[in-house]
Amino acid sequence: MSDLLLRGGRVLDPSSGRDAVADVLVRDGLVASVGERLAADRVQIIDVAGLVVAPGFIDLHCHLRDPGLTYKESIASGGRAAAAGGFTTICCMPNTDPVIDSRGIVEYVLRTAAAESPVRVLPIGAVTKGQAGKELAELAELAEAGVVAFSDDGRPVATSSLMRHALEYSRITGRPVIDHCEDVTLTGGAPANEGPVAARLGLRGWPAAAETIIIARDLELAALTGGRLHIAHVSTAGGVELIRQAKRSGVPVTAEVTPHHLTLTDAWLLGEGLRWPATGTTSLDRRAPYDTRTKVNPPLRGDADVEAVIAGLADGTIDAIATDHAPHAVVDKLCEYDEAAFGISGFETALGALLALVETGAVSLERIVEALTVGPLRVLGDLDGRVSPGRIAEGCPADLVVFDPAHPWTVDPEHFLSKGKNSPLDGVELPGRVVLTMVAGKVAYRA
Ligand code: DOR
Repeated sequence: MSDLLLRGGRVLDPSSGRDAVADVLVRDGLVASVGERLAADRVQIIDVAGLVVAPGFIDLHCHLRDPGLTYKESIASGGRAAAAGGFTTICCMPNTDPVIDSRGIVEYVLRTAAAESPVRVLPIGAVTKGQAGKELAELAELAEAGVVAFSDDGRPVATSSLMRHALEYSRITGRPVIDHCEDVTLTGGAPANEGPVAARLGLRGWPAAAETIIIARDLELAALTGGRLHIAHVSTAGGVELIRQAKRSGVPVTAEVTPHHLTLTDAWLLGEGLRWPATGTTSLDRRAPYDTRTKVNPPLRGDADVEAVIAGLADGTIDAIATDHAPHAVVDKLCEYDEAAFGISGFETALGALLALVETGAVSLERIVEALTVGPLRVLGDLDGRVSPGRIAEGCPADLVVFDPAHPWTVDPEHFLSKGKNSPLDGVELPGRVVLTMVAGKVAYRA
């Protein structure tokens, strides 16, 4: 571990409100000091003038496919891709093979991550055994083994009764329950947002009501039990409004939104009438319709929903931005739209996409960084130092990201460190990029 000085960057730390040019001195893995023109004896100096220095990003929601599906991603490749995206802590979902529903699998993930991932990896345990929606997993034991939340992500917690009991365990363990809100009796695996685009393409529709019905159920149960509820990848105007009202009434709920639901609409399934980002003014060339790389669950929505999730992020209704990084192999997407796997490989385009959103003026850069740091920490709570600190302060572990907000680059998934090349942003120009990621003072990624 080398001591180093990040000289002359724009230090943007939403936790303290600091947004000013300063030096950051890193010693023994910790932030030793932050200030103007720090003296630098026997340390490596990195000139970061013109760049932003921020707390390392924390991703509440990703899929690492390990154990069992490592042809799609592994803890090692996912960890490297996360570092390239500026993330210093990532929480991985349990829909692996086998599912993360027992102490042994949690220990496997923690051990593998410690040996192979350059970033901190925090496992999320399944709510139900095998994520089968029948019987609760041993939630207290999972928490003891080190899971930071519970989720059946990929699908909703199957019944009200299971959700109620999971939320009761949340009170005992202090860990939130993260729900993928989808009434599967309404969606039946439909690949596209229900509306004019799906109708035009002849695709089955996934209605907004399938999301709001489960959010409403979960909010009732969070109010009933006092357990901590976190809504994954909210994608609809109705969902945002339910969360807004519930927060006003004091329900213990938090929520996340993905970069793709903030920046893409279902027009991307048609391949025409495209703007980048969706609410911006830049028109893009036509693209092929039925591009399976646009297929994600929940699906890309229409303009009104996208505007509502942006407003929800801007006003704090939505606490965090989470990637839902969902890497798949080429063959998983090389088929008809209806048959393709759901998911977008998201680590390495997240910051660039969010910078494009900032350029529209709808959300400030400070709010974006807050939703990638302070927001996720609010969801995870205090984890005795297992999570990145989400701030740049003396004595804290030096988990930092340095990015260039004005270094345009064109997305080429073949250059991703992730094994998942499934990005609908292939060929799109993004305004900025990650330059350096550091975890506990150690360089995890350097462009
Ligand atoms: O698009 C998605 N992909 N949504 C999910 O809920 C699951 C995820 C996956 O595991 O691929």
